[in-house]
Amino acid sequence: MSERPTKSILRVLEGEAVWPPPIWIMRQAGRYLPEYRATRTQAGSFLDLCYTPRLAEEVTLQPIRRFQFDASILFSDILVIPHALGQDVRFVEGEGPKLDPVTSEADFTRLKDELPLERLEPVFETLQRLRGSLPAETTLLGFCGAPWTVASYMIAGKGTPDQAPARLTAYRDPAFMVALIDRLVRASTTYLIRQIDAGAEAVQIFESFGSALPPALFDSLSLEPIRRIVEGLKAARPHAKVIVFVRGGGSHLHRFAAAGIGDALALDWTLDPAQVLPTLPGHVATQGNLDPLALIAGGEPLERGVDHILSAVKGRPHIFNLGHGILPETPVEHVSQLVARVRGA
Ligand code: CP3
Repeated sequence: MSERPTKSILRVLEGEAVWPPPIWIMRQAGRYLPEYRATRTQAGSFLDLCYTPRLAEEVTLQPIRRFQFDASILFSDILVIPHALGQDVRFVEGEGPKLDPVTSEADFTRLKDELPLERLEPVFETLQRLRGSLPAETTLLGFCGAPWTVASYMIAGKGTPDQAPARLTAYRDPAFMVALIDRLVRASTTYLIRQIDAGAEAVQIFESFGSALPPALFDSLSLEPIRRIVEGLKAARPHAKVIVFVRGGGSHLHRFAAAGIGDALALDWTLDPAQVLPTLPGHVATQGNLDPLALIAGGEPLERGVDHILSAVKGRPHIFNLGHGILPETPVEHVSQLVARVRGA
């Protein structure tokens, strides 16, 4: 018999309306923290930081020490998957990720068919270390990128404003797209299973580029691949909990809920929880969704934004978060104010 979880985030993921709602922040380890910038300089490259368990553990813990968030998210990146599959991935200071684009059959054939888990051993070691070093009440989250978001980077070789290269590929060469997405579904499922085995208690799937997909491509490139990952993970590890974040996926949320894809659905900052929550079944947990710019602004916009979300989610299973990742220019004191306001509810 499984016991009822005591950690607040896990209780919400089981459908319990915990009050005040637990809180963590997407991209909570990062450049807005001076201590992150200090560790980052020691590490060499960004990927060195991801693959050095002692340092990755340290930057994962930094936001927990400061703010006592209810969840801690593994420090890594969604692009370690293409990297492990054999694609060249670099992080260029001030420019973001750069990859050697995968555009031809020949590029695709050079990628590994199965995810070489041994290349990701440092990531699993980071999770194991964190299980020992996190406070008892903090939930440890693992994550991966959703196949469409990761494929967009793999095809374009960089972030693009509206993922035009990957979208064009989906129209011109659907067989290539299906093969790439399928490879990523399998790799991501294996990766998440191993993260759970290494100590992650729940995982988040980031579909950061969901907003780029036209309705005709959404199901085959986003909803179905995510559904297959969640199904594969839960078949292998029934206790694993999943948060699904589809940025720009507002009009599809009720279908994720109806299909039982994910224990929690994360709302981006364009959605009004007061309107969206009543359209979702009461047992489906939600997460979000303060505008990251309201957090930068602070003051009244921050307070009003937080209070609106709190009143909309009262009585429902909800995890407080931003509606997308925290930005490097965010004042650290505003994060403290956010946490105090949510915890004072
Ligand atoms: O604290 C955490 O959330 C854990 C770590 C984490 C990072 N990236 C660290 C990181 C997580 C969960 C991610 C996910 C990620 N990576 C996403 C999905 C989430 C989202 O925000 O939409 C995406 C699209 C990526 C790809 C990626 N990695 C980009 C676009 C960049 C450059 C961004 C930038 O602001 O320069 C990265 C690099 C990256 N990943 C940084 C961090 C802290 C900054 C790099 C640095 O410190 O030099």
